[in-house]
Order: sequence, then structure tokens, then C-alpha cells
Amino acid sequence: MKMLLIILTSVATLLSAALFTTAAQESQTPAPMAVDTAKGLPEWDMIYAVFSHPRCADCHVADDRPRWSGAHYGGTRVHAFNVRRGADGSGFGNPGLRCTTCHFASNSSALHGPPGAENWRLAPAEMVWFGKSSAEICAQIKDRNRNGDRSLEDVALHVRDDKLVAWGWAPGADREPAPGSAEATYQAIENWMAAGAPCP
Ligand code: HEC
Ligand code: HEC
Repeated sequence: MKMLLIILTSVATLLSAALFTTAAQESQTPAPMAVDTAKGLPEWDMIYAVFSHPRCADCHVADDRPRWSGAHYGGTRVHAFNVRRGADGSGFGNPGLRCTTCHFASNSSALHGPPGAENWRLAPAEMVWFGKSSAEICAQIKDRNRNGDRSLEDVALHVRDDKLVAWGWAPGADREPAPGSAEATYQAIENWMAAGAPCP
């Protein structure tokens, strides 16, 4: 009987210790960031203007065909030459017609010659922006299951530092560049995050 009492007492002590720890941990978790839509949405609009721009969205498509769109192409259509994502899903195209057959590390200087940047390829299909609304693109960017498992800070750094992204502001041969700059878009993402990253 005495033994049982001792066991019961120690179980109770352990339990209350466990409860106490949980409570202490909970009180240490920071409160969720306040969302300031008045500050955040204008920042998002700048980000959206870039991501939805043809120089970005033409590589971020849901199907397996890059797009040609904007004034330089005289409208919107699928990439000529029956170019595809590639049966292996890599985005580098099918064997025999790889992107790098035509797209090199830098832009062709010829008007309507192939533009270029290192590792030219289609973005994975889940990172789709072409034909998507502002709200849809916003949801995609924030979804780690669809953005290459990135935090928003990682997304911002990708925009600031990636070579394919940089091409969008130096697209060569008469193509209109994406609005602003890589640095300004990076800053807009930082400001948007600081405002709680609201979506429209
Ligand atoms: C030549 C094709 C190409 C162009 C042009 C391009 N991208 Fe991408 N993009 C990719 C590929 C490929 C990935 C996947 C890379 C990875 O996950 O590491 C990607 C991934 C991304 C990601 C991370 C994933 C996500 O959904 O958040 C961001 C952000 C991004 N691109 C922004 C841009 C912006 C902004 C532009 C235009 C200024 C642009 N991209 C133009 C091919 C392209
Ligand atoms: C047979 C050659 C060839 C192949 C292969 C090829 N491209 Fe192109 N691509 C071109 C040419 C030429 C242009 C420029 C056309 C123009 O300026 O009128 C171009 C332009 C582009 C553009 C620019 C669109 C814009 O918004 O300005 C993208 C994006 C693109 N290609 C993606 C790809 C991807 C991704 C692959 C591989 C899956 C690929 N291309 C394979 C020849 C090719």
C-alpha cells in the first residue's frame, strides 16, 4: 500500500512537471505576426506585377510548353519548334531537343535569336503563374509544397540572386524587361513579409 502511494505520488509529480513545461513552452511561443493589409497589399501588387510579367510567367507554366508572349512576340502563343518540358520532368526538354540546344549562357544578340542564361529550363509545373490570378500566385508563393520547400525569406533571396530570374530584367534583343529590378523586388518581398505577407 505504501509502495503504491509512493508510485502514485511520483507519477503525479512527473505529470505536473510535464504540464508545467508545456505551459512554459507555450508562453514562450511568439504571438502570430499582425497582418497589416494597408501596408502589405501595395507591396504584393509590385511583386505580382513582376511574377505575372511575360519574362517571368512564360517559364512558369502548368503544362509542358513554355510560352512566347508580349509585344516582342506579337501576341501570346506556345513556344515554336514543338518545345516540351521533357518526359523526365526536368524542364530541360526532351533528348534531341534540349533547351540548351538553342539557349546558351547568354542572350543571342540577333533580333528573335534565342535568349540565354545558365541552366535555361522550365520551372516545375507546380510553380505555375502563367494565366493565374494575383490571389492564386500569392497562395502558390506561400505554399512550401509548391514552392520548392522555401520559406518566404528563401523566395526573396532566390529573386535577388538567381541567374534565370536576373534574365527577366536583361532579356535582350527588344524584349520588354520585367518592371523594376531584382533588388527592388527583393525589397518589396521583405516589406511584404514585414507586413504579415497578406494575399488579395
Ligand atoms: C528560363 C526559365 C525561367 C525564367 C525566365 C524565370 N524562371 Fe523562375 N524558376 C525557373 C526554374 C527552373 C525554377 C525552379 C528552380 C528551383 O526550384 O531551384 C524557378 C523558380 C522560381 C522561384 C522559386 C519558386 C517559387 O515558386 O517561389 C521564384 C521565386 C522565381 N522562379 C521567380 C522568378 C521571377 C521573379 C522571374 C522573372 C523576373 C523568373 N522566375 C523567371 C525558371 C525560370
Ligand atoms: C530550336 C531552338 C529552341 C529550343 C530547343 C528551345 N528554345 Fe526557347 N526560344 C528559342 C528562340 C529562337 C527564342 C526567341 C524567339 C523570339 O525572340 O522571337 C526562344 C525564346 C524562349 C523564351 C523567352 C520567352 C519570353 O518571355 O521572352 C523562353 C522562356 C524559352 N524560349 C524557353 C525555352 C525552354 C524552357 C526550352 C526547353 C524546354 C526551350 N525554350 C527550347 C529557341 C529554342
